[in-house]
Amino acid sequence: MATTAPFVTVDNKLQDKVAIITGGAGGIGEATAKLFVEHGARGVVIADVHDEKGHQLAESIGTDRSTYIHCDVSDENQVKSLVESAVKLYGRLDVMFCNAGIFSSSIQNILDFDMAAYEKLFSVNVSGVAASVKHAARAMVEGGVSGSIICTASIAASLDGDRFTDYTMSKCAVLGLMRRASRQLAEHGIRVNCVSPGPIGTTMSIKSLGVSNQEEAEKVFESKYLLKGVLKVKHVADAVLFLACKDSEFVTGQNLVVDGAYKI
Ligand SMILES: NC(=O)c1ccc[n+]([C@@H]2O[C@H](COP(=O)([O-])OP(=O)(O)OC[C@H]3O[C@@H](n4cnc5c(N)ncnc54)[C@H](O)[C@@H]3O)[C@@H](O)[C@H]2O)c1
Repeated sequence: MATTAPFVTVDNKLQDKVAIITGGAGGIGEATAKLFVEHGARGVVIADVHDEKGHQLAESIGTDRSTYIHCDVSDENQVKSLVESAVKLYGRLDVMFCNAGIFSSSIQNILDFDMAAYEKLFSVNVSGVAASVKHAARAMVEGGVSGSIICTASIAASLDGDRFTDYTMSKCAVLGLMRRASRQLAEHGIRVNCVSPGPIGTTMSIKSLGVSNQEEAEKVFESKYLLKGVLKVKHVADAVLFLACKDSEFVTGQNLVVDGAYKI
């Protein structure tokens, strides 16, 4: 008589893995930290400049599985020391989510382009990501780990908008960095991909829209997704989990857009 193989649910997609999430104290980073722990991650290091929120999040997740480390990604030394601390704490690094980012401080039309604001934004969104990829990749190569690196870009890098020039430039640069790094690190078994969210109700968009909360921000975006519903941080975290785990083990150099078919 034929026997049926037992049905096995594989839920812990990051069992025993160690991850760092920059910009992990809120928004997309926070949702991803929670999801990684739900999926069995042994250690999730939340790195941010918002110390109060970061400590609170690590405590709410459980300090046996999660640690907050202050790190301003625009300072390479802080990024280097973040990666060293994570490896010292948990023994290895499997996943780096380079997610910290800031938005344009004004429209940044080229005729009134504010160079100082552009340089500040680039120091976080571009140099910060380059330093994060660099030091994570070094730790993975040294540890012989076939890790996964994911960077947060944006649909701003691909859409035909007419505002926020410096932010758009920075996210185009992140795509370029990801594409080159994915080729350079493939021989070490390290994958590098991007996730590109559409507009989403987090602190960043609440501030830039000048609204007072998440619901109000979501109302602004609601009619613009061709898919029914509203883009949530969990949707982006799910995509990051896919890129972080074995489900995507032969995927590298890709930009995974999560925007519900957003139209301007
Ligand atoms: N909100 C959107 O509509 C949207 C859309 C596409 C892409 N993104 C990108 O998603 C990423 C996460 O943003 P979010 O929407 O969750 O916003 P958020 O403001 O909630 O999160 C950004 C986090 O980065 C941290 N951060 C800022 N500067 C930092 C620095 N120098 N070093 C370390 N941490 C720093 C902030 O404290 C914050 O916790 C960003 O890269 C952003 O550009 C956001």
